[in-house]
Amino acid sequence: MSTAKKDYKRITVKSLIEMKANQEKISMLTAYDYTMAKIVDGAGVDVILVGDSASNVMAGHETTLPITLDQMIYHASSVIRAINRALVVVDLPFGSYQSDPKEALRSAIRIMKESGGHAVKMEGGKEIKESIKRILNAGIPVMGHLGLTPQSIYKFGTYTVRAKEEEEAQKLKEDALMLQKAGCFALVLEKVPAKLAKEVAQSLTIPVIGIGAGNGVDGQVLVTHDMLGMTHEFHPRFLRRYLDLYTEMTNAFTQYVTDVKAVDFPSDEEQY
Ligand code: KIV
Repeated sequence: MSTAKKDYKRITVKSLIEMKANQEKISMLTAYDYTMAKIVDGAGVDVILVGDSASNVMAGHETTLPITLDQMIYHASSVIRAINRALVVVDLPFGSYQSDPKEALRSAIRIMKESGGHAVKMEGGKEIKESIKRILNAGIPVMGHLGLTPQSIYKFGTYTVRAKEEEEAQKLKEDALMLQKAGCFALVLEKVPAKLAKEVAQSLTIPVIGIGAGNGVDGQVLVTHDMLGMTHEFHPRFLRRYLDLYTEMTNAFTQYVTDVKAVDFPSDEEQY
């Protein structure tokens, strides 16, 4: 049974703003490949994020910094081929938009043209305001990302909760308002106190999608591999695991090894 308030055949940036106005929560998950995206889209998830977390999840890097624009385009175009309904948002990777607005626009255009993605996501506030405006002026929808912004991990030094102190909370509120005024269609808030996230969500007309930001926001996002329990060594407080795929997959692979060694697989029925 669907719990959606309105049956959207195709999610657009306008649908998300409408969902917020109708107090319908927005669901968002990551995907980096065709097969996963097909399942996520088919399950009715509103927004698929081709996150630069692919750098960790798919490539095994410690941070999101190493992933390149070409690699993001490869992941995004695989996801786009699977989609019937979801809005596909693609992260602009580290190094593809920070130096100047022209470079930012060139990177965003490459994502839109070469992958077919529907929007881009960028980390940061007023420091990247001109780049955001330039991209928006070209007709490319932008989702903001504030709070814990993993592309700045070496500046923060840790992945702990952001904006607990008044000064940082104040800057975050100003940045959120700036992103809305600039024309962003939505905003991700990562790992900030629930009270602050709720206040930001209530002060904006654009949707605020949280990860580790409590339930007073307009939607939730998780990394799919985390919520499926595939990345079992990662267990922050905000993560709800819907499956324990690490254990289930390990059991399946172990059984396969046993069956092959015992010449139990393939059976008579499994051969020509
Ligand atoms: O890259 C990513 O997966 C993200 C989410 C954590 C929001 O940015």
